[in-house]
Amino acid sequence: MGPNETLQYPLTYPNPLCRPNGALYISCTLLFFFFFFIAMDSTQPEVAYDFSPMLIVYKDGKVNRLTGNDVVPTSLDPKTNVESKDVVYSSENGLTVRLYIPKNVSQNQKLPLLVYIHGGGFCIESPFSPLYHNYLNSLVAEANIVVVSVQYRRAPEHHLPCAYDDSWTALKWVASHVNGSGPEDWLNSHADFEKVFFSGDSAGANIAHRMGIKHGLETLEGVNVEGIVLCHPYFWGNEAVANESADENKRKFVGALWRIAYPETTGCDDPWINPVVDPNLAKLGCRRVLVFVAEKDLLCARGWYYHQKLKESGWGGDVEVVQTNGEEHVFHLFNPGCENAKAMMKKTADFYNNN
Ligand SMILES: *[C@@H]1O[C@H](CO)[C@@H](O)[C@H](O)[C@H]1NC(C)=O
Ligand SMILES: *[C@@H]1O[C@H](CO)[C@@H](O)[C@H](O)[C@H]1NC(C)=O
Ligand SMILES: *[C@@H]1O[C@H](CO)[C@@H](O)[C@H](O)[C@H]1NC(C)=O
Repeated sequence: MGPNETLQYPLTYPNPLCRPNGALYISCTLLFFFFFFIAMDSTQPEVAYDFSPMLIVYKDGKVNRLTGNDVVPTSLDPKTNVESKDVVYSSENGLTVRLYIPKNVSQNQKLPLLVYIHGGGFCIESPFSPLYHNYLNSLVAEANIVVVSVQYRRAPEHHLPCAYDDSWTALKWVASHVNGSGPEDWLNSHADFEKVFFSGDSAGANIAHRMGIKHGLETLEGVNVEGIVLCHPYFWGNEAVANESADENKRKFVGALWRIAYPETTGCDDPWINPVVDPNLAKLGCRRVLVFVAEKDLLCARGWYYHQKLKESGWGGDVEVVQTNGEEHVFHLFNPGCENAKAMMKKTADFYNNN
């Protein structure tokens, strides 16, 4: 992929600003012309990579994140009765976790603990965006769990393994509460370290899997990781598997996005993006895995392939795939009110509550 090629985004990541209805659509059309004229102005910096509608990377190294920049404050959410707060886990890198508990939890009542890692191609979004804040408020209320939502340094400014390293640092911070004497009272009082789960969507699911492997190899002392939930995981490979798209432009896009996140990679058969070639796959450090895939998602077949290869690996746990038909990549975050998203939420909550 040459630096001058413009890529078409094939994951149909919805752009929340541009919906074909009414005034918003008209203003988006005007915006288009506005940017069109800016683009004709030769004093503007030259584009190196265009990953619209996610981000644009300029040749001078500047990055324009086109979405996922909104921030909502912590709250006692009146709709769900879920409380949240932000706590610094790495002052060295200025990184925070957003914690969630159901407000009605009784004193010293222990609840399953979920560590959630957000998606966005390793490049965009944050735990503070309304997309994730709303999703986790609803999940906490439905599943009656404690959640730690992890901020990590993002590519392309901070390429991999930063996001993996930061997530592991956050997990070690979480594990420092196992004896009830960590820095954060919500975890000391309410986290059940016998029932810990990891989850994430898209690139966050990739990281959640990687954390499961790392826990299998290095062990977070005192932490029993019961299960991992991967929503539309961002895994890939050089060769198309099963009914995966063979469209060269789409495959190029995914490969280019991966290389932006991890320029030192050996390519799309790197075990960090193609986990089935990892010789440690069977060491995954949990008992149960739930993989969600969406039929119209370019990454759908990879989710199935991961399921098949994990089963064949000799790993001793249970893995299940749930496919949502007629839906796109991370539809459940962008359209949480739809029936398919509600079904996905229910299935997820059951997974956290049934041993
Ligand atoms: C809090 O509310 C949730 C959802 O209604 C319920 O499942 C849970 O049992 C309640 N917890 C307490 C301690 O009342
Ligand atoms: C928790 O207690 C156990 C047993 O006393 C000890 O081995 C372990 O180091 C403690 N862990 C933390 C994080 O304090
Ligand atoms: C691809 O195969 C899977 C599993 O066999 C199937 O469920 C899915 O609907 C297929 N997807 C497409 C886009 O044909």
